Amino acid sequence: MLPPSPSDSEPWSEKDFAAIVAFLRHQIGITLEPHRMGLLQARLRSRVQVKDFSSFCQFHEQVLRNDPSGWGAQLLIDLSTVNHTSFFREPAHFTFLSEHVSASLKDAPTSTVRLWSAGCSSGQEPYSMSMALAEALPPHGLAKVEIWASDLSLEMLKVAASAIYATRDVQGVSPARLRRFFLLGRGPREGSFRIVPEIRDLVKFRHLDLRNTIWALPTDFHIIFCRNVSIYFAEEERLVLLNRLSQHLRPGGWLVMGKGEILPSVPASLRKHSPSLYQREA
Ligand SMILES: C[S@@+](CC[C@H](N)C(=O)[O-])C[C@H]1O[C@@H](n2cnc3c(N)ncnc32)[C@H](O)[C@@H]1O
Repeated sequence: MLPPSPSDSEPWSEKDFAAIVAFLRHQIGITLEPHRMGLLQARLRSRVQVKDFSSFCQFHEQVLRNDPSGWGAQLLIDLSTVNHTSFFREPAHFTFLSEHVSASLKDAPTSTVRLWSAGCSSGQEPYSMSMALAEALPPHGLAKVEIWASDLSLEMLKVAASAIYATRDVQGVSPARLRRFFLLGRGPREGSFRIVPEIRDLVKFRHLDLRNTIWALPTDFHIIFCRNVSIYFAEEERLVLLNRLSQHLRPGGWLVMGKGEILPSVPASLRKHSPSLYQREA
């Protein structure tokens, strides 16, 4: 007699995982690439087993089907998004940011300068914006800056709001920045680094799905960083995303994308200056 196939004997089978993949695609808009399935399965298995579900199928039937926007969906989002980020990733973007904000404040010293890190992951990007500006501006200039930061993943936002990072996260940060912008953990927090309040307090975090049609955010941003996020979007969704982002820029405002992101088409409201820099028509 043939041994039972894995899908007959293993309750956590690929077959019943298919319903979860379909849920991710249709309800959340995330298309899981085949090479990421194994990782999601492993992460999901350990997280829902502790809640006493005996299979992916049971989790799908009892949680996702009954409450498609509840905790199960959020768990899937948290486990299936790629959150790779780092402090001062693509450093030229932060030089651009500092120069642009300094120039804007010179022209209009009393106006607020609004910046947005859309898809901020665990916070390194908005905190790098904040640090770059703390280096470039006098205190009264910094007081005119607002940095908004948003992500789809609640887990990432929790890490971001805590502003606590491990040694490996700060490896690329210069010693001068480490001394100025980070507090060394003591006692049970030894080995960790926390961003100083001066830098933390500039950033407001929001939970936001960029696929939603309404974003409760200002519409006069000077600069929006939306780097390495559109990789999650299908081609036609990317155009919709760029269009909406451009509507949240003030005339002449800038959109900064990741250097490796390929954007086959760009809305008419945006002018391309380099592969990662776009400006809204003035
Ligand atoms: C690879 S990280 C990039 C982080 C940072 N922008 C950078 O470049 O270092 C992508 C982030 O986009 C977020 N994301 C993916 N889809 C999203 C969506 N529909 N709405 C908002 N954020 C999304 C993910 O949760 C993840 O934290």
